[in-house]
Amino acid sequence: MKVVAIDGPAGTGKSTVSGRLAERVGAQYLDTGAMYRAATLAVLRAGIAPDDDAAVAAVVAPLDIRVGVGDDGASVVRLDGEDVSAEIRTDEVTGSVSAVSANPSVREKLVAVQRGHAVDAFLVVEGRDIGTVVFPNAALKVFLTATPEARAERRHRQNLAAGRPSDLAEVLDSVNRRDHLDSTRAVSPLRAADDAVLVDTSDLTLEQVLDRLTELAGERIGVRDV
Ligand code: DC
Repeated sequence: MKVVAIDGPAGTGKSTVSGRLAERVGAQYLDTGAMYRAATLAVLRAGIAPDDDAAVAAVVAPLDIRVGVGDDGASVVRLDGEDVSAEIRTDEVTGSVSAVSANPSVREKLVAVQRGHAVDAFLVVEGRDIGTVVFPNAALKVFLTATPEARAERRHRQNLAAGRPSDLAEVLDSVNRRDHLDSTRAVSPLRAADDAVLVDTSDLTLEQVLDRLTELAGERIGVRDV
């Protein structure tokens, strides 16, 4: 098992960096946030309150959630066979995903699926608890950080580029709220593993971050740009 774990809060460029790094070093890319989003979508569709732990656990238990990568390098997510890659990015899902991902049964189920991916594979895994909980023995652990302002600015630009209405102050508010929920929850709170390499992306371009991580992957696991 060869794993590069990439954790950190929203808006650090984590998804783009993880996908591109996987391409560079010839690994598979696994987006675990997409799995929590797919579970959240199912909860919303079932009309259940995202913080009703017992009802959420019952809805999520039988779900078949699969995450892969499409031709464009972005993650493709299937919920019981249905491609929900676009629907899991709506504000509605984003607003409820912290509550669903704080549910211990949901985490237990999805962590098992994530570990299953690593058997006989070389993976770049992106999430919040990958270096601390899912793959504590990962060959390389990276924790991406950036100031809340830099992260909100990125999300805002992404929204506008995708044609979604966006208000910077509201985005900053939502970034801060989600950070707080994700880092104070009882189960697997967002924190850097003791042996993670911290990379602050506030003032770095995507290429600079990628160069740094490719260098680290080369040092730690002997893989190079392919
Ligand atoms: O990276 P993202 O924004 O798609 O993640 C969506 C949510 O899922 C995020 O608010 C926290 C949660 N998450 C988690 O709890 N554990 C992970 N390994 C990945 C994501």
